[in-house]
Amino acid sequence: MRKPVIAGNWKMYKTPKESLAFLDAFLPLVEGHTRDEIILFPTMSSLGYVIDAAQGTNVRAGAQNMHWLNEGPYTGQTSPTMLVSIGCRHVLLGHSEQRLYFNETYERVNLKLKAAINHGITPIVCVGELLGEREDGKTEETLRTQVRSALRNVSSNEARRLIIAYEPIWAIGTGSTASPEIAAEAHSIIRHELAHCCTQQIADGTRILYGGSVKPENIGSLMKQEEIDGALVGGASLIPTDFARIVQYQ
Ligand code: PGA
Repeated sequence: MRKPVIAGNWKMYKTPKESLAFLDAFLPLVEGHTRDEIILFPTMSSLGYVIDAAQGTNVRAGAQNMHWLNEGPYTGQTSPTMLVSIGCRHVLLGHSEQRLYFNETYERVNLKLKAAINHGITPIVCVGELLGEREDGKTEETLRTQVRSALRNVSSNEARRLIIAYEPIWAIGTGSTASPEIAAEAHSIIRHELAHCCTQQIADGTRILYGGSVKPENIGSLMKQEEIDGALVGGASLIPTDFARIVQYQ
C-alpha cells in the first residue's frame, strides 16, 4: 500500500508572517485528516517557523532545495545537517525551475539525493519532460534518463524512502494539466525504470506524485488513477481553502 502524499510547493511566495497566517487558516481545515501525508514546502526564510507551528499536527514541512555537503564556503546554500537541526525531514530535489533557471543538473541531484538519505531526509525528486521532448516522442527516454541519473550508485536499501514527482514542464504554472491517462502512462514509465535501477519491490513501494496545474477541480480524477500516488501542487497550494479542498479530494 502506498500512502498518498499531497505536497504544496510555495516556490518564492510568502513571508514568515504570511506562512503562519496560512497555517492558522489551513490546520483547522485538515485537522484529523490521516488518509494522505500533507507536506508544505515554504521558502528557507519561513521553513523553521512553519515546522515549529505545525509541530504535533498532521502537517509536515520541508525545504525546496539543499546542498549535499554539511558545511563549506558555498554562499547561498543550506546543508542537510542545517535542515535536520531545525526538524526538517523532507526536501524537494531537481525541481524544473531549479533546472531551467539555476542550472541544476541530475549529477548534482544524485549527490543531493544520497546526502538526503544519509541524513534521514526524505527526498522528493522531480522529473519531467519539456513540451518539445513530448512532441518529438522523447518523453520515455527523457524520464528514464532523469530517473537513472538521479539514482546512480544508490542502493535499493537507500532508495526505500524515495518519493518521485512527475512534473511535465509544459503543465507547470500553465493551467494545462496532463490528463489523468497521460500522467498515469508517465508514472508507469518511471516505475519501470525504478524496477530496472533498483528492484521491483522498490518500484512497487515508491510513491510517484503528479505535479503541474493541480487544482481542486482536477485532483479527484488524477487520484482515481492507480499509478498516481499524490500531488505536488504549486499555485493552488498558496490558498488555504483551495489546498484543503485538494487534500480532501474524492
Ligand atoms: P503549479 O506548480 O501547480 O503551479 O503548476 C507545480 C510545481 O511547480 O511544483
